[in-house]
Amino acid sequence: MALLTQTPYKQRTFDLHGLTGISDQTLEVHFGLYGGYVKNTNLLNEQLVELSGQGQTATPTYAELTRRLGFEYNGMVLHEWYFGNLTRGGGGGIATSSALGRAIGESFGDIDTWRKDFAAIGSMRGVGWAVTYLDPATGRLSNHWITLHEDGNIAGFKPVVVMDVWEHAFLLDYKPAERPKYIEAFLANLDVDAAEGRFTGAADRPVG
Ligand SMILES: [Fe+2]
Repeated sequence: MALLTQTPYKQRTFDLHGLTGISDQTLEVHFGLYGGYVKNTNLLNEQLVELSGQGQTATPTYAELTRRLGFEYNGMVLHEWYFGNLTRGGGGGIATSSALGRAIGESFGDIDTWRKDFAAIGSMRGVGWAVTYLDPATGRLSNHWITLHEDGNIAGFKPVVVMDVWEHAFLLDYKPAERPKYIEAFLANLDVDAAEGRFTGAADRPVG
């Protein structure tokens, strides 16, 4: 996927200091890691354009770099969604009467059941992401696990709530076995308005 006209992606900034239970130090480290995905996405595209220009598209190198696009692109985009659904003073709770609240009720029975299911998926062993997705074809919401950044994303579904559960997201603040505490902190900082905006389609990408 070599795009000769590819415009480099720019690292976005997020003002998130002062969250509850997710330290500024963790966020600084995390912003740096996110920047690495932006840089590597751009680098991969540059390398692919160069190889393409040299007629090297039928090579194992071209194939392997192309496969890595899924990891780097998703690492970039998922982090933007993650930072974009955090806010100071968030976690006020999804209103049962809101569009998102009603959809959660229809899909899970009630908001508490969604929350427990989301936390359980986020607590799964391994590193990855827990995402509440909207199926645009049915209007139903469902929770999903993504291994690393690229294995488990559902084609065509829209992300509504995105939580990073790689250990770098919480290891400065919690012990490895304390991931549930981090998940509680994430939910305490959830930007409900951002999630509502994604659900209603007001924001696709970038979001936040
Ligand atoms: Fe991360």
